Formats: sequence, C-alpha cells, structure tokens
Amino acid sequence: MASEAMVEIGPDTLARQLIDAGTLTSDWLPTFKSVPRDHFVPDAIWPGRAGMNRQDDRVLRSEAPELWWKAVYTDAPITTQWDDGAYTGAGRGRRPTSSSSMPTMVFSMLDALSVKPGNQVLEIGTGTGWNSGLLCHRLGDQNVVTVEVDASIAAEARGRLFAADYAPEVVIGDGALGYGRRSPYDRIIATASVGNIPSQWIGQVHPGAVIVSPWGPVYGGEAVARLVVDEDGVAQGQFVCSSSFMRLRQHRKDLPLTSRFLDTAAWPLNAARSKTVLSPEVVGDWILMFAIGVQVPDLFCRVTWGEDDSYRLWLFDTRVTSWASADYVAGEEEFDVAQAGPRKLWEELEAAYWWWREQGRPDFDRFGLTTRGGPAYEVWLDAPGNLVPVRR
Ligand SMILES: C[S@@+](CC[C@H](N)C(=O)[O-])C[C@H]1O[C@@H](n2cnc3c(N)ncnc32)[C@H](O)[C@@H]1O
Repeated sequence: MASEAMVEIGPDTLARQLIDAGTLTSDWLPTFKSVPRDHFVPDAIWPGRAGMNRQDDRVLRSEAPELWWKAVYTDAPITTQWDDGAYTGAGRGRRPTSSSSMPTMVFSMLDALSVKPGNQVLEIGTGTGWNSGLLCHRLGDQNVVTVEVDASIAAEARGRLFAADYAPEVVIGDGALGYGRRSPYDRIIATASVGNIPSQWIGQVHPGAVIVSPWGPVYGGEAVARLVVDEDGVAQGQFVCSSSFMRLRQHRKDLPLTSRFLDTAAWPLNAARSKTVLSPEVVGDWILMFAIGVQVPDLFCRVTWGEDDSYRLWLFDTRVTSWASADYVAGEEEFDVAQAGPRKLWEELEAAYWWWREQGRPDFDRFGLTTRGGPAYEVWLDAPGNLVPVRR
C-alpha cells in the first residue's frame, strides 16, 4: 500500500507544477497522464537538482521506495548511468552519461517540436525511453524511431516501452548519423547536446521539418535550438530556452590537457600582468558563457580553487597557443590577470563580454542559429542578418 508520502508527491502534483510554470501545455497533458515517468525510471538512480550540475548519492527503489518516488516526481533531472556504465557504486562517478531529463525540459522541448498527427519523428538519445513513450502515445509508435548509442540502455528502454505497450523502432547506433533507413522525417528531437548540427539530420528531413536540439559552444553555456529546414537544406531558427544536457558521445569536449600549454607559453612566469574590473564571477553566468563561447569558439576554461572561495579562472585555446588567468577574490573590486602566448585570451573574453553588454544583455531567446549542418554555422541576434561577431 502506498504510504502518505507516496500519495502526496506524484504525477498530479508534478503536472500542476508544470502547468503553472507554463511548460506542460494542454495538448501534452493527456500524454503526461498516460505515460507515467515512474514506468521508465530504473531502480538505481542518482537524483539531480534543478538548474545545477550536481547529483545526490545513489537511491535504490528496492531499499528506499519513498525517496525514489520523490525523485521521480520532482521537477529535476535524474542520472541513470555514470561513465558509460563503468561506475555503478553508491557514490558518484566521474561523468553522468545517461539520465531522465528534467520534466520541465522534456515538455518545453516537446512543445517546441510542434508535432502534428502522422508526423514521423526521429529521437536521438533514447535513455530511459520516457520521451519515446510520450511521443508514441501522441503520434503512434509506428511513427517513432529512437537511436541510442549504448546497447544496454537501448535494451532496457525497449523493454520498458514494450511493457507500456509501445513498440517504436529502437536503434542501437550513433545518433549523430541520424537513421537513414526510415527517413525522411518530419521532426527530429535530440536529447543530448551538440556543438554543431550533424548534416545527416538535415539530409534526412522533409523541407519544413523541425529540428529541436540542445546546442552549445566549447566554452560553456547551452540552449535548445528550434530550427526549421528549408528547401535548400538550410536549418534556421531561434534558441527557445537555456539547457544543460550531456553531450552526444561523439560531440564530447575532449580538450587538450592544460599541461600541454607549458610547451608553448612560459608557465606562468613569463605572462604579462594586468588588472581588470570585470569579475571572473560575472563571466561564469550560463548566458555569458554562451555569448563568450559563440564569439571565441576555440576558448575553454578551468577553475582552480583557493581559500575562502577565492579561485583562479584559467583560459586556454583549443589550438594550444595561449593561456590567461584571472584571480577572483571575494569583496575585491579589481582582479589580477596574467596572459601568455600570441593571443590575449582575457582581452578576447572581455571584448565578448562588452559586446554582450552593448546589445542590452540579451538572453538565450534573442539568439538564433543558421546552418547547413557540420562545423559551419552562424549565430545571430534577433534576426538572421545580424551576426554575432566571431573574434577568432
Ligand atoms: C539525457 S539522456 C536521454 C534522455 C531520454 N530521452 C529519456 O527520455 O530518458 C541522453 C542519452 O543520449 C545517449 N547518447 C549519447 N550519445 C549518443 C549518440 N551519439 N547517439 C545516440 N545516443 C546517444 C546517452 O547514452 C543517453 O542515454
């Protein structure tokens, strides 16, 4: 029998919360009710926190059913796999590699997908299978194809979908390649993020198709792009909301080791020293990281912590030519900067920051993306002609 705690928190309370927040729209409500998240979330989970990249310790449904249930019906992501399955312990692994996405994000993205009856949909990143189940309920399972790179995750999701009476095509493969055999599609939805939109996705859709995918530059910051593909194979559209997805396996940011900079720039003795009034803390905002990352596409950063919440923000370029650092100390108004190598990376970052300020501190929804797929793309502000400057 369900305990009191189990009755209090559940699909109804979560639905109300999502409706109030405007993310669960009336057209998706019957689907939300018919395809419960608890049917898809596995026994072992690491509950996450809304808007934070943090996970709690493992919760087993068999040992702590009330905690498990609470996590499933909280509007937060749930990690379901670490390190491509290598870590299964009670703590946390190094990198989360599969999850049940935050319900707010799931329904915001489904809303952006604007599905119509009969649409053929390709989902990239099957994960638990919940999103596929939602699509099957709305469109019919014969219209849904989902691709998952991890064979054991795909098998488990397929089992859960079958148990819920859905039999979409669950493909084991690299979703970056799409799935040509069932193309052309009317809609593509990716539930793992990319650094560029694969040209295969654009090649596998009808003109007028909608692609919804989280997209983010190397530096950080990420948002969900809603792109419409035209007759000439150009995908274009705005970002609809901020996001923080795990990367598509092949789009992971495998960045150079910072120790490699030792060979190319004196470390750290030969650096040019200066001061800045721009706080390293300010440029850690998600939207600012996005605005900086778009303008300086080969920039990446690291942080080393000191005492009393002070830290050093390190900047590097992926071509391993230059580095910079800025030291944050709480309560200070000026911060020490060091820059070495042919590029002045802190100055590039500052220029990107001031550009963003001059544009009126735009949020994600003022930015848009145009691409034919692959590494060539343009990011614009407000309208496709108004390109965001690329500084390198
Ligand atoms: C955030 S989870 C997906 C959540 C899922 N849609 C759900 O409803 O539970 C991202 C998934 O993408 C998968 N993935 C990562 N790289 C992939 C790739 N190249 N092709 C297909 N799936 C990939 C991961 O294994 C993971 O299961």
